[in-house]
Amino acid sequence: MIKPESIENLKSIADVVDVVGNYIQLKKKGSNFTANCPFHNEKTPSFVVSPTKQIYHCFGCGATGDSIKFIMDYEKLSYPEAIEKLASMYNFELEYSKNKNFVKTNILDKLNSFYKQKLINNQNAYNYLKDRGLNENTIEKFSLGFAPTSNEQINFINQSKLPINEATELGVFAKGENGLYARLIDRITFPIFSTNNKIIAFGGRTISNHPAKYINYANTKIFNKSKTFYGLNFARDKILRKKEIIIVEGYMDVIMLHQASFSNAVATLGTALTNEHLPTLRKLNAKIIVAYDGDNAGINAAIKASTLLAQNGFEGGAVIFKEGLDPADMIKKGEDLTPIFENNTPFIEFVIKETLNKFDLKNSHQKQEAFNEIKNFIMSLNPITQDDVANYASQIMQIPKKFFKIRNKNIQINSNKKIEHAEASIIKTVYENRNYLNEVAEYLSPEIFKTHKAELELLYQEDFDNPALLDIVLNDEVKILDYDSLINAIKNMLKINYTNELKRLNFEPLSLEEKAHKARILREKIKELRLT
Ligand code: UTP
Ligand code: MN
Repeated sequence: MIKPESIENLKSIADVVDVVGNYIQLKKKGSNFTANCPFHNEKTPSFVVSPTKQIYHCFGCGATGDSIKFIMDYEKLSYPEAIEKLASMYNFELEYSKNKNFVKTNILDKLNSFYKQKLINNQNAYNYLKDRGLNENTIEKFSLGFAPTSNEQINFINQSKLPINEATELGVFAKGENGLYARLIDRITFPIFSTNNKIIAFGGRTISNHPAKYINYANTKIFNKSKTFYGLNFARDKILRKKEIIIVEGYMDVIMLHQASFSNAVATLGTALTNEHLPTLRKLNAKIIVAYDGDNAGINAAIKASTLLAQNGFEGGAVIFKEGLDPADMIKKGEDLTPIFENNTPFIEFVIKETLNKFDLKNSHQKQEAFNEIKNFIMSLNPITQDDVANYASQIMQIPKKFFKIRNKNIQINSNKKIEHAEASIIKTVYENRNYLNEVAEYLSPEIFKTHKAELELLYQEDFDNPALLDIVLNDEVKILDYDSLINAIKNMLKINYTNELKRLNFEPLSLEEKAHKARILREKIKELRLT
């Protein structure tokens, strides 16, 4: 942990005008500085930095905070990460309390220096990396090393007076029948860094044809394999700048891509892309390109990853390399990957096309299986996109669309038959004017409705004969609105909803930072309603 006194000292020397000015251009105006707000889109500056108050504030979107908050939001860093970043800007040496995790990561740092030394002394290992196409800078940047025999590693820990039980807890050693042994032996070592550049684990590749080509540390207190992306510490800046992230399968792919200046590449760590990876991706807010190996395993993994990403509304697509190659191979061959990445196939299209590729569509049994798989995929998507996807699938499979008729089984119809007129009118109006459907669906998500949420979903799914929907549509007391009244009714409803959400935020068990972030989004939405 960083000592609180140390943070206070740092704050006292950091100047918010300097810090913000490091990222965006500020203009002096009176006693303050102004700029276009970096946290929302605007053409006239409503973002103000006050040297006397040592804060910034945006009159447009409400973003407010001090130097540290600015770095957190601008660079998408956590609080301690932002403090470390600020400290590095001022060459300020932070003091840490002797927290256990800190001592532990220190062990991995020392071990890494040892591995690096071993690599330099081992011609065979060093040549292996050179033969794979890595240059010296790359080897240095990624801190690659070499893990020698188990005994040498145990001796190193003992001679350096490092606690061997803690090293074991961190994954360096495992317990076997004859006592401790090193997890990585006779392997190239790849330190795995957290986003704030601390080593949290290692992976290793055999250079002696051991049947396990790669070994990664198991999960430890400071390392969660299914959450971590290899290379993200090096890639984050570029990802934020380019608003694009490339996800690959392997260590070597990341390293070769960075060397070829695709420094927005990261890899999962010998696991599939999982739900646990998604919060990190969401925070990065970048278009995703999945670039897995061109073999069967890679294609299947890419279908799974694309499915997960499509279901969760991520933007992006997947690419497949020819002849079973992977990104590292492609770069070694001297291929230009730019056009390949640019020609990625959007996730939904990719899943459908590649699923079809797995089956022989001339065989009716296989065609049925492909159909079932695709229909299940469509059902798993957001109801609002289902219809478009069903259209696409029906065309590409040449199966009439009615067979894809999507009925979301999860819909719970409101059983007490009481009509809520504002909501019901909207539903009836759109039902009678189907040309409004797309526009309304874009504005109004079913969650906003309190009473007739299910019926609105049915309408969006074009389940026009559903009795629950007919209950509303055929009710003479429910009015049909003209276009302007419809739009007004929807706006009112959204406004009330967002305003209530804003009030409720105070009672939610969120951190101040999360609350501020959500409040900003809500205020922005309310403001947008006023404008349009
Ligand atoms: P690959 O077998 O595609 O690795 O596995 P690679 O990087 O292409 O291998 P080389 O070095 O170029 O021959 C992709 C990733 O899957 C994990 C590793 O994280 C690897 O980078 N993996 C692979 C394992 O964890 N264990 C294995 O035995 C193999
Ligand atoms: Mn590979």
